[in-house]
Amino acid sequence: MKTRVKLLAGNWKMYKTHADALAFAAELAATTLPRDDAAVEAVICAPATALFGLADAFAPLHVGVGAQHMHEAQEGAFTGEVSASMLLALGCRYVILGHSERRAHFAESDANVAKKTVVALDRGLIPIVCVGETLEQREGGQTATVIRSQVGAVLAALREREAQSDQNPPATGALPLASLVVAYEPVWAIGTGRSSSAQDAQEVILLIRELIRAALGAEIAQQARILYGGSVKPDNIATYLKQPDIDGALVGGASLKPESFVELWRQSAL
Ligand code: PGA
Repeated sequence: MKTRVKLLAGNWKMYKTHADALAFAAELAATTLPRDDAAVEAVICAPATALFGLADAFAPLHVGVGAQHMHEAQEGAFTGEVSASMLLALGCRYVILGHSERRAHFAESDANVAKKTVVALDRGLIPIVCVGETLEQREGGQTATVIRSQVGAVLAALREREAQSDQNPPATGALPLASLVVAYEPVWAIGTGRSSSAQDAQEVILLIRELIRAALGAEIAQQARILYGGSVKPDNIATYLKQPDIDGALVGGASLKPESFVELWRQSAL
C-alpha cells in the first residue's frame, strides 16, 4: 500500500508567455478540479519568465509552482541564471534539475546536478531530479548502469551533506532528504509518443528506490517520491500509477492544455 502523496508535475519547457500562463490558470479556475490534496499534489513547472504572480493565481486552485532549472550559487556574476532564493521569492516550491534536455543542450553533468540538488534542499526547494537512458544506451543493455551513475552522483552528494550536518547544520527552511523527488525519464520516450511500458518503468524505478535505500536508509527510500516521465498522456497515466513504486508523473506536452492537465489530474486522483 503506497503511503506517499502522488505528484503530478507539468513541465511546460519553453512554452507559454506570462500572459499565457495566467490564461491557463484562469481556465483552470473555471473548471471543476479534483483538489484532493491528500491523494495527489498537482504542480506546474513554468518558464522563469512566467513565474511572477503564477503561484498566487494557482494557490486557490491547489496547484503548486516549480521552476525548470536553477543555478547553485546564492547570487553572483552568472548572466542569465536564476538562484534558489529568486525562485522561492516567486513562490516556487519545486525545481526540476538535470532534465535530459539540459544535460544534452546545456552540458549539465551529474556533478552539477548533484550539487544543485543539495543546494535546492538546503534552501527549501524540492528538487525533481531527472535521470534516464538514451535509446542507444537502452539497446546496448546499459539502462541500469546509466541510472546507477546518474542517481549515484546525487546520492553521494546527499550522503556527504548528511555527514557534514553536525559541523554544518542545515539552515532554517532547509528540507529533509525525504523530500527528494526523482523522475525517471527515458530520453527516447520524451516528446516522441513512444512511452516506456509500465512494467519497464516500474523495474527501473524500483532500482532507483533500492539505490536510495542503500545510500540513505529505508525510511528515506520509503518516503522519497519517484515519478515516471516520457510521453505520459491522460490515457496512459493510470497504468503507471498502478505500479507499486511509481508515485506520479512528470508530463511535458500533455500538461500544456488546461483540459488535458485536468484530465491527467483526475486520472491521478482515482
Ligand atoms: P513529454 O515530456 O511528456 O512531452 O514526453 C516529458 C518531459 O520532458 O518531462
